[in-house]
Amino acid sequence: MRTFVPSKQRIMSKRYTITAALPYTNGPIHIGHLAGVYVPADIYSRYLRLTGNDVAFICGSDEHGVPITIKAKNEGVSPQDIVDKYHAIIKKSFEEFGISFDNYSRTSAKIHHETASEFFKTLYDKGEFIEETNEQLYDEQADQFLADRFVIGTCPKCGNEESYGDQCEKCGTSHNATDLINPKSAITGNAPTLKKTKHWFLPLDKHEAFLREWILEGHKNDWKPNVYGQVKSWIDDGLRPRAVTRDLDWGIPVPVEGAEGKVLYVWFDAPIGYISSTKEWAKQVGKDWELYWKDKETKLIHFIGKDNIVFHCIIFPAMLKAEGSYILPENVPANEFLNLEGNKLSTSKNWAVWLPDYLIDFPNQQDVLRYALTSNAPEAKDNDFTWKDFQARNNNELVAIFGNFINRVVVLTNKYYNGIVPTPEDFSKVDLETLSEVKAFPNIISSSIERYRFREAQQELMNLARLGNKYLADEEPWKVIKVDEGRVQTIMFVALQISSALATLCEPFLPFTSAKLRKMLNISSGNLEMSWSDIASKEILIPAKHQIGDAELLFSKIEDDAIQIQLDKLIASKKANEAASKTVEPQKDTITFDDFTKLDIRVGTILEAEKMPKAKKLLVLKVDTGIDVRTIVSGIAESFTAEEVIGKKVTVLVNLAPRDLRGVESQGMILMTENAEGKLVFVNPDHSNVSNGLQIS
Ligand code: 2FM
Ligand code: ZN
Repeated sequence: MRTFVPSKQRIMSKRYTITAALPYTNGPIHIGHLAGVYVPADIYSRYLRLTGNDVAFICGSDEHGVPITIKAKNEGVSPQDIVDKYHAIIKKSFEEFGISFDNYSRTSAKIHHETASEFFKTLYDKGEFIEETNEQLYDEQADQFLADRFVIGTCPKCGNEESYGDQCEKCGTSHNATDLINPKSAITGNAPTLKKTKHWFLPLDKHEAFLREWILEGHKNDWKPNVYGQVKSWIDDGLRPRAVTRDLDWGIPVPVEGAEGKVLYVWFDAPIGYISSTKEWAKQVGKDWELYWKDKETKLIHFIGKDNIVFHCIIFPAMLKAEGSYILPENVPANEFLNLEGNKLSTSKNWAVWLPDYLIDFPNQQDVLRYALTSNAPEAKDNDFTWKDFQARNNNELVAIFGNFINRVVVLTNKYYNGIVPTPEDFSKVDLETLSEVKAFPNIISSSIERYRFREAQQELMNLARLGNKYLADEEPWKVIKVDEGRVQTIMFVALQISSALATLCEPFLPFTSAKLRKMLNISSGNLEMSWSDIASKEILIPAKHQIGDAELLFSKIEDDAIQIQLDKLIASKKANEAASKTVEPQKDTITFDDFTKLDIRVGTILEAEKMPKAKKLLVLKVDTGIDVRTIVSGIAESFTAEEVIGKKVTVLVNLAPRDLRGVESQGMILMTENAEGKLVFVNPDHSNVSNGLQIS
């Protein structure tokens, strides 16, 4: 038997702290969060574990901050009620979706309050803050300072009129609330006044030189261009001190004297949540948390969305540097945004695919969504999720390529050999080339994952499934079996090696599929368990005489009906939004009954009509008002032709003072309104037998 040579093993073994942005606990997780942060972070963490690294994959709920207070106010409950509710929903849906956090904590946890307070205290004691009393925006009516999302105004950088006090979501700039042009309170809508209050500021300007050297010089080539570009533009614009405390009653109390009624700014406490969540985990599993945050050999990676870049690349590193004993992030692979069916995802407009809903509507199909989101991940630019694309990715790729290959292999192995891996005879040139191609895949996929190119990595994974499909299609074991049973043993042996490689290599992307496939191939435990590097280094991945299990479908076709249900949900949201945003003209000033009786409104019939020359909008009508036949010039020519209106019963205001319109005296007015499509329609007397001249009262 000729043999094939394993390629060189990739050597890696490091300690990694991987963080995924702590989601605000004011709503469930949606596909935008998943595509931007949690799916890529999970692929990366699973990959690092499979390649033998020591990984702490850390997350938790971000439970402070104004959005939670606003949600609580709107629902008439306490902020604690809101965070308890959504923390439970978010945690459960992440678990069900297979996001493999080592720890999912929350910022209301005691350990977090202690860690954040201690962090602040250390910086305070080291003199790293500027203490300053200055004027902040204040809502007199609500008797409250207006921090962050409590105030909306025009962004001084890009002119967005809906910018929040601390950040503009349109251009990503982070600013002070007093920088806003035309600020308005989000509570009362009033223009705020200015009121003096004391706060602590982190002097970012003091850290500018370090940030410039560390990021602009040190990470020019390894940080993503979208991240590097944003950071560069902020640093080049000049950094200014940022307040890290707030006059609010929801958050972590500022732990120094003279700070009663003040809390830490949510963006000061939230990133410290990564540290406290690590501490909580380390305690549970008997590890030393400090190794994950203070050992220079540890690599710290933050997965975030683009709106979080300034906080993770400038403010948090400045805090860590000022504290002095922490490592800094090795990379911050921020993603751009995902849109849904051509529109921006929006929680308030219910324009989203919510994870808890997906898990109910598509049971046991977590990997399909993971796959579709990664195929279309907004890695370099904003991207669009569509349900049709989701369906096509499943039906044309997962079912037709990956699932089809595995199904053929497992069905044929059971059919020909009662599920026992056959002993190969001599390998042909194609067999050897195929086996050596398989061995190249771990390195190819690694190289993409390690550069945070998860779309590309997943495409490579599918290329391995394509290789398997092509191999079977070319070798046609179902035909050869009739003439050369020995050759089929070799073909099926090779196909089973490809299947085993797929089972491991798909784990970061499709963890549920990987588990199912390993179980099917009976390689999920014992000495057939495989690491990433085994695929390149082991001569045989699944040996002859090994018993595999029965065939089970890995993926099933998604029918049009299931997609239509999702599209209908979005149509319903769109309609609800349109109805809510329809502006109704305010009622005009009240008039007396006497005023009303002055109007003489009658039923009339249009007898003649002709277009007014050189006037786009005007028809000249002869109307029988019951009292007389008179001329009325009406601005309806863009909605009706002259022929159409002849004979129409109409409502006429007959005692309107005559007006001269382009040389024709108009002696009254036809009453019109608009229908649902915005088209002009007559206010029709609804009985055709009402007579002209009847008064409307
Ligand atoms: O943008 C957000 O959803 C924030 N809650 C992210 C916080 S990340 C961190 F620093 F904790
Ligand atoms: Zn802006």
